[in-house]
Amino acid sequence: MNTEYNFNVKKKRPEEEYGKVSDYFRGDILNQYATSKNMMKIQEKITIRALELLDIKKKDALILDAGSGPGFAATYLKEIGYRIVALDIIPEFLYYYEIKELNPITADMCFPPFKPNTFDAIISISALQWIFRDLKDKMMYSMLKNLSISFYKILKPNGRVVIQFYPKNKEIMDNTGKIIVKHTDFSGNFIIDNPNRQKKRKIFLLLNKNRNF
Ligand SMILES: C[S@@+](CC[C@H](N)C(=O)[O-])C[C@H]1O[C@@H](n2cnc3c(N)ncnc32)[C@H](O)[C@@H]1O
Repeated sequence: MNTEYNFNVKKKRPEEEYGKVSDYFRGDILNQYATSKNMMKIQEKITIRALELLDIKKKDALILDAGSGPGFAATYLKEIGYRIVALDIIPEFLYYYEIKELNPITADMCFPPFKPNTFDAIISISALQWIFRDLKDKMMYSMLKNLSISFYKILKPNGRVVIQFYPKNKEIMDNTGKIIVKHTDFSGNFIIDNPNRQKKRKIFLLLNKNRNF
């Protein structure tokens, strides 16, 4: 397998163009995202794969959906029997649908307001590129560090995290993993589906609170 994946992204991604996520997801763009049946299907498919990687044994596990948007992943997880907390930094997303049963909460996922040892698992779909995308940016580094420490703290022992995201290149991808592991006792690895088909490629970072897995 070729490990030097082609990251030749020609079009600027929204996070590069806008910087602040709330400057991008607002008005028509927010509405289009939240109401897109196609997007719902795509995000649900990613969630199914993420869940497969998490391999949760407990039927009624409590899962945090970090960067939940309008709740596509969270709704699916709830439907199949998990208990969910849907967290997003943009309140309009969380109140787009009637999702009270997803326990919606407006917060920054780098500072999740929960007690230690709360969640069996954390899932984050297509959000992390908004937090860390520039190796030289100290603020981004410190936000990612904070996210890592917080995720570690709020997970129960043996809890797992799966993060699907869109790093701009392999250097950013690798450094994301390194920074998370450096500041916590997580063990982790990347799982890359369709590594050599850029359009279909999906990158997952799987983290485990127990180093001996
Ligand atoms: C592309 S959307 C994905 C939404 C959802 N996970 C899905 O699969 O449909 C990215 C989401 O990440 C959220 N987000 C970005 N940075 C965040 C942060 N620091 N804290 C919480 N949510 C954040 C955005 O508000 C947005 O809802």
